[in-house]
Amino acid sequence: MPLVNTIEMFEKAYKGGYAIGAFNCNNMEIVQAITEAAKECNSPVILQVSAGARKYAKPVYLKKMVEAAVEDTGLPIVLHLDHGADFEICKDCIDGGFTSVMIDCSSRPFEENIAITRKVCEYAHAHKPYVTVEAELGTLAGIEDEVKVEHGAESYTKPEDVEEFVKRTGCDSLAIAIGTSHGAYKFKPEQCTRDPKTGKLLPPPLRFDILEEVSRRLPGFPIVLHGSSSVNQEYVDIINAHGGKLVDAVGVPEEQLRHAARLAVCKINIDSDLRLAMTAGIREHFDEHPEHFDPRQYVGDGRKYVKELVKHKITEVLGSNDKI
Ligand code: G3H
Ligand code: 13P
Ligand code: ZN
Repeated sequence: MPLVNTIEMFEKAYKGGYAIGAFNCNNMEIVQAITEAAKECNSPVILQVSAGARKYAKPVYLKKMVEAAVEDTGLPIVLHLDHGADFEICKDCIDGGFTSVMIDCSSRPFEENIAITRKVCEYAHAHKPYVTVEAELGTLAGIEDEVKVEHGAESYTKPEDVEEFVKRTGCDSLAIAIGTSHGAYKFKPEQCTRDPKTGKLLPPPLRFDILEEVSRRLPGFPIVLHGSSSVNQEYVDIINAHGGKLVDAVGVPEEQLRHAARLAVCKINIDSDLRLAMTAGIREHFDEHPEHFDPRQYVGDGRKYVKELVKHKITEVLGSNDKI
């Protein structure tokens, strides 16, 4: 099966009350971990590539590795550009064989966001085969490549804007801001309550009222959640037990993501959790085997942890297992 776009995947996910995992890839081991996990779970999957990943690994390597994963697993896989900042990077990816792109002009004024998103949609939809386009309304806190949005400067999506935006741009899916943010420190300690027994931070709930109002206004339309890592404590503990120092890292509780997946959310973006799992595997390996110096040994342990994590996400959070 060749690479696919998101249309059929999202239609099935919407109707079935589950979401597709969109996992960020930067190297071969991450591509293998995600796609082997998806294969074992019989799940469709989105592999997404940021501008930073393109700079790190070179576009041609990423494309060929994803093609290798398609050949290896036979799964329906989407190759998606994550957070495309302008028309040019989207065009470059569309011309280079991506089956889906995100144009992210969410930090620009509404009319500018519409104009650039529409231009990308016109180009992507005229492409043969049709390339799907994700757009964004509302801004998340955190860091994506060069754009850093401080906590407090983020803004929730305004539901009253979404119908006009989707109609005028022609986008195929819409990322909205309902309280998630990028990175492993999603909430400042003062935004959270602290569990008196464990001392761990408990984050504020996501704004499901906004999600519900958006989906009421856009019936059947696929919604995307960025910044959806949960910062699973077991990996933070492994990292900290083996020389790391992650203090007060906090993510989105998995049960809230599961709830979102049952509603209109068809795509859930996860990157930081993969980074934490990879780091946990490598740190633990170095600590337990100080005599090792073969990268296949320690990176291999990182890959094993990422694979376990992705299987957990697919079966316990996204609900996309056995959907092929
Ligand atoms: O949304 C941001 C993703 O986690 C990608 O991160 O730009 O560091 O590759 P990156
Ligand atoms: P996390 O930092 O929560 O993993 O978010 C990733 C993301 O939104 C990629 O676009
Ligand atoms: Zn994102």
